[in-house]
Amino acid sequence: MEIKIRNEKPSDRSAVFDVNCNAFEQHDEAELVDALRKSRSFIPELSLVAELNGKVIGHILFTEINIRNKDRTFPSLSLAPMAVANEYQNRKIGSRLVKIGLQKAEALGYKSVIVLGHPGYYPRFGFKPASHWGIKTTCEVPDNVFMALELVRNGLSGIHGIVEYPEEFNSV
Ligand SMILES: CC(C)(COP(=O)(O)OP(=O)(O)OC[C@H]1O[C@@H](n2cnc3c(N)ncnc32)[C@H](O)[C@@H]1OP(=O)(O)O)[C@@H](O)C(=O)NCCC(=O)NCCS
Repeated sequence: MEIKIRNEKPSDRSAVFDVNCNAFEQHDEAELVDALRKSRSFIPELSLVAELNGKVIGHILFTEINIRNKDRTFPSLSLAPMAVANEYQNRKIGSRLVKIGLQKAEALGYKSVIVLGHPGYYPRFGFKPASHWGIKTTCEVPDNVFMALELVRNGLSGIHGIVEYPEEFNSV
């Protein structure tokens, strides 16, 4: 199975929509991707697809967010959403999307990534509860599902505050 991880192209949009619908078994995340693509937080280099024999079977999106406290605002990234089509799950395709995405994010100069997701999945890539740094969300979620990762050494050193998501997330 030769899986290629590459940047999303305009012609992938409907396949990306379908992969998100398939993986999440609802339209919300697929619609979120479409909305984020039109938003200021969208970074074309950080919308990646997994392709198998010319078919899109996975997708990951990182968008720009801010971590804000009363004194300062720090740019960071949100990893959301990510999806691998149901029949291709548990074959490390998601892991490759995350790892390559993190490498590309670092290469673009980003210093950290925030994720709200499965506490059994993201720690394997180095994510830790964001509370470790004093980074919070306004969503009422258990501590271990709201996680952060330093892309570079001390990438979150001295950074604390509340994560401000693009408004497109409010509709999900
Ligand atoms: C989460 C997802 C992207 C992972 O993709 P994948 O290609 O199956 O991932 P990998 O093969 O790299 O890793 C599989 C691991 O993910 C775990 N995993 C998958 N879904 C999970 C979930 N809902 N909660 C916790 N762990 C999950 C599997 O148990 C497996 O764990 P193991 O390696 O310890 O056995 C994919 O399962 C998916 O699209 N799920 C539905 C949509 C979703 O929940 N997206 C994430 C939103 S934060």
